[in-house]
Amino acid sequence: MNQNQTTNKGTALITGASSGIGAIYADRLAARGYDLILVARNAERLRGVADRVQQAHGRAVTIVQADLGQRDDLAGVEQILKTDPSITLLVNNAGFGAVTPLLESDVERMARMIDINVTAPTRLAYAAAPAFVARGGGTIVNIASIVGIGVEILNGVYGASKAYVLALTQSLHHELAAKGVRAQAVLPGATATDFWDTAGLAHTNLPSGMVMRAEDMVDAALAGLDAGEVVTIPPLQDDKDWLDYEAGRKALAQRFAHGTPAPRYLDRTAA
Ligand SMILES: NC(=O)c1ccc[n+]([C@@H]2O[C@H](COP(=O)([O-])OP(=O)(O)OC[C@H]3O[C@@H](n4cnc5c(N)ncnc54)[C@H](OP(=O)(O)O)[C@@H]3O)[C@@H](O)[C@H]2O)c1
Repeated sequence: MNQNQTTNKGTALITGASSGIGAIYADRLAARGYDLILVARNAERLRGVADRVQQAHGRAVTIVQADLGQRDDLAGVEQILKTDPSITLLVNNAGFGAVTPLLESDVERMARMIDINVTAPTRLAYAAAPAFVARGGGTIVNIASIVGIGVEILNGVYGASKAYVLALTQSLHHELAAKGVRAQAVLPGATATDFWDTAGLAHTNLPSGMVMRAEDMVDAALAGLDAGEVVTIPPLQDDKDWLDYEAGRKALAQRFAHGTPAPRYLDRTAA
């Protein structure tokens, strides 16, 4: 038995754990001493991940088959977060994207994307945060994307959904850090998972130099968590770029407290 099998960090609930990034989080968090609750729609794939993780790390793993786009299923996962006192970590990872421009996108698919990428992580954060405060602490990891900043790169609704996840995480940190709740947004770039097949463009069609292994992405994200980062961007080579961008955003946010429009608009009204 290795040291992690004797260390109990509580339970991590991971959404979208049946494949890709979520399945790697399951492995890495079990290796770090977490028991797991794995959530996704595909029970067979969840069972496969659970079996591998249990064998490798000897932690307790529960699977919950749930479609986070269905309100009853989502409510069931919210209930688990509210009532299971062993849960110390939520990884809001389930999500999907698209590469189509607006004029070629089905609005129903866009609305489902908002359900999974925005509504579900919001409701799960609202379930976890008060429970973590009451239990004296906890961590919420939200998987956003670099397209939350570069919103023009892929489908616009996808980019906007990830911009929301980034902003929500920053506000969770702002409101809850002093209450012992950590929040981290992870912004992967292109990562080699089924995400791209679901979005309609296999990642093998992308320049290989820009595609990261899911294992490397998750290991970097966990290194960022260990370092206390609120925002972790694994592919960004120089973190000064992010720090400068963030300092500019915060400085700009101080410049809006005026009850009159800027002169440039008053000039136009007069014309
Ligand atoms: N791969 C990339 O390049 C990339 C880049 C930036 C950000 N991301 C983000 O990373 C996260 C994980 O994606 P991935 O790359 O690991 O892709 P993936 O392999 O397709 O994994 C997506 C996961 O979400 C789950 N999921 C999808 N719809 C769901 C629903 N309605 N209810 C419950 N679970 C659902 C899927 O499980 P079931 O199908 O079993 O339900 C699967 O486990 C997503 O939020 C994605 O936006 C990915």
